[in-house]
Amino acid sequence: MRIHVVDHPLVAHKLTTLRDKRTDSATFRRLADELVTLLAYEATRDVRTEVVDIETPVTPTTGVKLSYPRPLVVPILRAGLGMLDGMVRLLPTAEVGFLGMIRNEETLQASTYASRMPEDLSGRQVYVLDPMLATGGTLVAAIQELIKRGADDVTAVVLLAAPEGVAVMERELAGTPVTVVTASVDERLNEHGYIVPGLGDAGDRMYGSV
Ligand code: URA
Repeated sequence: MRIHVVDHPLVAHKLTTLRDKRTDSATFRRLADELVTLLAYEATRDVRTEVVDIETPVTPTTGVKLSYPRPLVVPILRAGLGMLDGMVRLLPTAEVGFLGMIRNEETLQASTYASRMPEDLSGRQVYVLDPMLATGGTLVAAIQELIKRGADDVTAVVLLAAPEGVAVMERELAGTPVTVVTASVDERLNEHGYIVPGLGDAGDRMYGSV
């Protein structure tokens, strides 16, 4: 597993406003969307392409297009939904699957409550979206499922990561074709499983505490 922390002043600027507890939900959703687009630019650096023949108004030439099979984007419900538009904006050919995972707040174990994805992911590049890499349980379970279905290149796009979650991913996904792209690896997890300094509960901040 590889981790890539995107070091860019625009990323740092947007992340600072996302962290600020005074930022309201509408602003939070807009900034998360913008931040994902910046992370997506880095996350898709190795997206597969093919050479195509085209004609400009002046001359025939060759160019590059996203190739088939189409990349698959998988937001993890619920907070990953707030990252979907920002990702597919840059990946217009992408297909979208959905994975509903919930974390037991006491045991911090992740379980799947909904899944809509192709059975066969052989040869597919997959982008998993989850704003917070906290304990790593949810992302590890999601990525293991994708690899079991045949995905041969998985990139997790997360807004924030905790060092504990990164360590779990490195241990559980050692030797797998997985990359994590994030805006920051924060200090630590607190005793409630929240990232410190973090930004709070990403789903609640996007959608309210329902
Ligand atoms: N999930 C969140 O939404 N926030 C955290 O800090 C950790 C997990």
